Amino acid sequence: MNTPQHVAIIMDGNGRWAKQRGQTRTSGHRKGVEAVREAVRSAGKLGVKYLTLFAFSSENWRRPEDEVNDLMGLLKFFIRRDLAELHREKVRVRIIGDRISLKPDILSLLTEAEDLTKDNDALELIIAFNYGGRDDILRAARTIACRVADGEIRTDEITEATLVAALDTRDIPDPDLIIRTSGEQRLSNFLLWQAAYAELVFMPCLWPDFNHDTFVEALQIYQGRDRRYGNIGEADMALGS
Ligand code: FPP
Repeated sequence: MNTPQHVAIIMDGNGRWAKQRGQTRTSGHRKGVEAVREAVRSAGKLGVKYLTLFAFSSENWRRPEDEVNDLMGLLKFFIRRDLAELHREKVRVRIIGDRISLKPDILSLLTEAEDLTKDNDALELIIAFNYGGRDDILRAARTIACRVADGEIRTDEITEATLVAALDTRDIPDPDLIIRTSGEQRLSNFLLWQAAYAELVFMPCLWPDFNHDTFVEALQIYQGRDRRYGNIGEADMALGS
């Protein structure tokens, strides 16, 4: 079975899930955390090596202050409650996104999770928090500009590899599959550089309803795709046409 090595998920639809039930958006996000737990377990069972979850985008600060606080609180709750189990299950936790504007308590919790699990190798759980694809590229450009200004490299020595090494995802392979729930069909500034050859799968279910079966379904859709990376298909190659 052709299992994607790296699956990235845009977890969308918590608000709609709650609205359909006459509940608050917060309860939708809470239920979303349960779906996060299930997705991590499923990824491990299915043999996925890297799972990236879009937990908070650089644009999510525009939401009402209460909701922003709820989302920060839920991430803290998740780390506090689940870190020991993640560590037991040999999951390595990594955070991508801009750390500068995060409050010290959340920052130290995230760093603690990364430090504790840094030698684990069953699954890498990458949490995209205060993450934006354009911001990732912008910060990488600044890093490279500083290296040039310091005389470390010349501009004509800058290659794709130089940029890749300056992104938050350095040493993480590009996603093979990006799943978005709730039926919306866009990337919303997620992993823009890294998504260049990813297969995109849009699932109609809302994030709190995402479970092992939905994960399997998304992998089956992925397995039906023909990834060509700019080349021609295998069948055409065999025909020499
Ligand atoms: C989108 O639903 C979801 C989010 C903006 C946040 C996702 C966060 C979690 C599931 C919880 C915390 C994460 C971790 C990793 C513990 P939406 O609010 O945009 O839904 P809507 O489009 O239906 O309004």
